[in-house]
Amino acid sequence: MLDFEYHNPTHISFGKGKITELHRLVPPNARVLVLFGGGSARHNGTLTEVETALGDREIQLFGGIEPNPDYDMLMDAVVQVRRENLDFLIAVGGGSVIDGTKFIAAAAPFLGDPWEILMTGGQRISQAIPFGCVLTLPATGSEMNRHSVITRKSLQAKLSFSHNLVYPHFSILDPTKTYTLPPRQIANGVVDAFVHVIEQYLTYPSNAPVQDRFAEGLLLTLIEIGYRALQTPVDYDVRANLMWTATMALNGLIGAGVPQDWATHMVGHELTALYGLDHAQTLAIVLPAMLDQRRDSKRAKLLQYADRVWGIRTGSDDQRIDAAIERTRHFFESLNVKTRLSDYELAGDAVAQVLTQLENHGMTRLGEHEDVDLAMSRRILEACF
Ligand code: NZQ
Ligand code: ZN
Repeated sequence: MLDFEYHNPTHISFGKGKITELHRLVPPNARVLVLFGGGSARHNGTLTEVETALGDREIQLFGGIEPNPDYDMLMDAVVQVRRENLDFLIAVGGGSVIDGTKFIAAAAPFLGDPWEILMTGGQRISQAIPFGCVLTLPATGSEMNRHSVITRKSLQAKLSFSHNLVYPHFSILDPTKTYTLPPRQIANGVVDAFVHVIEQYLTYPSNAPVQDRFAEGLLLTLIEIGYRALQTPVDYDVRANLMWTATMALNGLIGAGVPQDWATHMVGHELTALYGLDHAQTLAIVLPAMLDQRRDSKRAKLLQYADRVWGIRTGSDDQRIDAAIERTRHFFESLNVKTRLSDYELAGDAVAQVLTQLENHGMTRLGEHEDVDLAMSRRILEACF
């Protein structure tokens, strides 16, 4: 096992009706900015519940944070926070609203150009405004981690930053808040969480059986409940398990002490920045080709994955690996998340465009062995059609 530090300070309040806990979790004298997305939280009543739970605290609102939150629009919120001396943020939404809130939390007190936060991956952050989350979409794990992914549309850039100061102080996870999600977002959430586990699990053996078995437990759970979450949208137990699985998939626990990959995510981010594909759609496209092209360096873990997750025990090594990759692709397709670039009407010139972006963003040594160079990325992208 590799050395690691692990400290996750986010308080989780899990269950139906837990939004009322806000009155206890938010300081009584806080001057609060409540952030939300394009309207779902307003339409389904979640925003009103939040406002009610905050009682007579001073509250301002900032809505309209779109999927793949845009730097320039988030800067409007930074201006509002500074101008109004707001000192506590509450994100009501999915990964985009939470990531946007993390950026605002770090950018408002930042001395200098906040774009540096993204350009340095978060290294220059020295303070952040405290914030909490009301999660409405199980997918990213952002509600219990230190990462944020921000898009700057004007530059066609999608970059991330990480810092311990942007762990949420608390996150409220009420599974009933997911009932209004469209099937596409539920499917996206299952795929995203699945690939988060894969990025931390499917590398090379490092004598970490607990992390491996936790990871396999999360994958098996997603396989078990993914389709049911689509079929029976108001099944509390299914939604509760999906929510907690997605949180556990990227809260640092299964990644502590093991090598990590993230090449699928990095290539996927470029596809979103260029063509606007949903985050999970990009992962469903890239992952099968990524595993196929890197089967030699991932061989031992691919065979373990085939055996323990898919129960594939017959055939040669390569046949079992082929079958495991095929089952993975089929799982995504069964959720109606398409797995080929051509399914999204992208043509061959996309390969060169993505490669240029990867080079511009320094993504030329990806993966757990830093061996996913531009030539390898080209082979992977060509295999995505
Ligand atoms: O904007 P509204 O109207 O709220 O609609 C949203 C949005 O259109 C809708 N939605 C959310 N909750 C709903 C709902 N609709 C009905 N009922 C509800 N309860 O869902 C749509 C998508 O929301 P979004 O927040 O964009 O989805 P997701 O949670 O998948 O977040 C994706 C973003 O997170 C980043 C992605 O790159 C992408 O920008 N990621 C963040 C990570 C992290 N911070 O650790 C890791 C991930 O790998 C990922 O990169
Ligand atoms: Zn992801």
